[in-house]
Amino acid sequence: MPLVSTRQLLDEAAKGGYGVGAFNVNDMEQIQAIMEAAKETNSPVIIQASRGARAFAQDNYLYHLMLAAAELYPQIPLAMHLDHGNSFETCESAIKLGFTSVMMDGSLKPDGKTPATFAENVEVTKRVADYAHERGISVEGEIGVLGGIEDGHGAGGSGLEHVTDPDQAVEFAELTGVDSLAIAIGTSHGAYKFTKKPDGSVLKMDLLIAIHKRLPKTHLVMHGSSSVPKDLQDIINQYGGKLKETWGVPVEEIQLGIKNGVRKVNVDTDNRLAITGAIRKVFVESPEKFDPRDYMKPARAAMQKVVATRMVQFGQAGHAGDYTAISIADMAKGYADGTLSTKPLVAAK
Ligand code: 13P
Repeated sequence: MPLVSTRQLLDEAAKGGYGVGAFNVNDMEQIQAIMEAAKETNSPVIIQASRGARAFAQDNYLYHLMLAAAELYPQIPLAMHLDHGNSFETCESAIKLGFTSVMMDGSLKPDGKTPATFAENVEVTKRVADYAHERGISVEGEIGVLGGIEDGHGAGGSGLEHVTDPDQAVEFAELTGVDSLAIAIGTSHGAYKFTKKPDGSVLKMDLLIAIHKRLPKTHLVMHGSSSVPKDLQDIINQYGGKLKETWGVPVEEIQLGIKNGVRKVNVDTDNRLAITGAIRKVFVESPEKFDPRDYMKPARAAMQKVVATRMVQFGQAGHAGDYTAISIADMAKGYADGTLSTKPLVAAK
C-alpha cells in the first residue's frame, strides 16, 4: 500500500472503536521492528519522526526507508507522521518531503520549551492546517502542555501543570480545523512519568471524557503513553544500567482513553528501553562480540515484541485488511469539498 493519510487511519479506528499506536523511529532497525510487528498482528500503523529524528537520520534516509516499508508490506496501511513540529516551516518541509501527516505543536513557542499563548497556538496551527489540507495532509494540534522533555522538546515538569481546558479545546478545534488533537491529561514524555505506582486516579480521564463528548469528530491523541514496564527496566539495570525506580501509564488507562475517543497513542520510551536492554545484555554476556548485527538483531526483536504487544492492547491488531488506501490527492479533494470537515464540531453539552 502507498503511504496513507493518518486521518484515514484514525477515521477507520473511530469506526472500529480501537486505537492506533504511533511509534517513534530514528533508524532502519526501528522501522523494521514496527513493520514486522504490524505484519505479525495484521495491524495498520503510524510511524512518526520528531525533529530530533530527522536531524539524526537525515530526511532523505528516513523518507526512503518509509517508502521501502510501504513497498515491502503492501498489506499494511502505513502513515508517516511528523511528531511535534515546532513551526510552520518545520511542518512545511515535512509535507514537501512526503510525510502524510504533521503535528503542529503550537502549545509551545518555536523554541520547543516555552508555553505559547492560546492566540499564538491558534494562529500557527490554523496556518499549518490550511496549507496541509490543501495538499491532502492531515494535521494534529496540541492544546494544554505535556510534561517532560523528549529529544530536547518539551516544557519539562510534571504532566499535571498545564492540563487541557475542555472549553479551550473546543474553541481551538473550531478555529483551526485540525483533524486530531493532542490533549494534556497528566501524561509526560520520557521514562520518568510517575514516582509511585499510578492508582487509576492519576490521569485526568474526566477531562478526556468531557472533551470527547463535545468534540466527537476530532480524534484525540494521547502522548506520553509508554507504560515503562518493570521487566524492561530490570533488564537494563541487571546489565549495568542505572535507571531510577519509575512508573509509566498503565495500559488499562490507555484502553479507557480509547473507549473515550483516543485514536492515536504515542509510544517511544518503551521501545528505547527494549532496545537498550537487549544491547546491554549482549555486551555483558558476550563481551567478545563486535559485529553490530550481534546486538542489533536482538534489539530489533525486543522492540518488535513491545510493539506487537501494544498493537494487540490498543485494538488495532487484525484491522490491516479492513480498507484500501485513499490517495493523498483524493484526501485533498475531501478537504476542499468539505466531506472531511470535522464540523459541526460541537455536540450539545
Ligand atoms: P513516551 O515517552 O511515553 O513514549 O511518549 C512518546 C510520545 O508521546 C511521542 O510524542
